[in-house]
Amino acid sequence: MEWKETLSRYIDLTNEALSTYTDIENGENKQVINAMQYSLFAGGKRLRPVLTLAAAEMLGGSAKMALPYACALEMIHTYSLIHDDLPAMDDDDLRRGKPTNHKVYGDGMAILAGDGLLNLAYEIMLEDAIKQDNPKPCLKAAHTIAVAAGIHGMIGGQTADLMNEGQFNQVAEPSASTLAYIHQHKTGALLAAALTAGAYVAGATEKEAEAMKSAGFALGLAFQIQDDLLDLEGDEEEMGKPVGSDLKNDKMTYPAIYGVEASHEKVRALTDGALGIFKGFGSTSAFLQSLATYLISRRS
Ligand code: IPE
Ligand code: IPE
Ligand code: MG
Ligand code: MG
Ligand code: MG
Repeated sequence: MEWKETLSRYIDLTNEALSTYTDIENGENKQVINAMQYSLFAGGKRLRPVLTLAAAEMLGGSAKMALPYACALEMIHTYSLIHDDLPAMDDDDLRRGKPTNHKVYGDGMAILAGDGLLNLAYEIMLEDAIKQDNPKPCLKAAHTIAVAAGIHGMIGGQTADLMNEGQFNQVAEPSASTLAYIHQHKTGALLAAALTAGAYVAGATEKEAEAMKSAGFALGLAFQIQDDLLDLEGDEEEMGKPVGSDLKNDKMTYPAIYGVEASHEKVRALTDGALGIFKGFGSTSAFLQSLATYLISRRS
């Protein structure tokens, strides 16, 4: 299974770089740095950085040149999880197999740890872009990530997620378009940005970047539908987070609205769509094809 070796290589590169980036001299700010490191190294799958590194290599760039953007995405993703778990949001106690950040450090420090990771992400990307003779491809990658993380992306999706859950529900009926908005934005946007940013750093054309973005949105929607399914059918031990969180919060999810079977079917159809796009890039997309296929049967 050659692709799994590549996967390990990408994960190792990401973990090493994340360690370096967070090896920060500390004093009065020690507690927030500890809280940031706690969640960052609690054992995430590193899917977003892997996608960035793979996209860069697929398009003729190197994993090394894409690492700052890959790590920035993992920091932003980790911050989104820390905040997502807070009592004011999903109120969950377990994440990446460990007590959630606020359970260990308290709500205030968890909010700051999230903010700290978000800011560090931009520091890292801008520092890298400043060093380039031609910074434009790197700035395009950073801009893509900024848009995907903010109100046009993840934060927009998290807003709609919150507004449409039981206790805050502002709408009379669940709607297909609202559900699609939530999933595409809260999760699809960062996965699409992961592939697109990797492509930009490698010097991809706009056409290539657009194709990667489409594949990322398809994979991202599939990934969140699976996350909804795992919340119903998964195993807490394997996932490292609670099952039944969505039911507890009366969330608008794919299985709640379309049923379990139709949701599994949608995951397969979306993955096929992403695979079709990857295949268009030829044999250099072999890793991304294997990864997308593997994700269909993920248990965590
Ligand atoms: C969890 O993301 C939140 C979603 C967007 C579904 P992951 O399943 O990638 O979580 P980690 O990074 O492996 O912990
Ligand atoms: C979270 O969606 C998406 C984020 C942007 C954090 P969920 O709330 O379903 O993610 P989990 O299940 O807690 O990981
Ligand atoms: Mg949530
Ligand atoms: Mg949650
Ligand atoms: Mg979930």
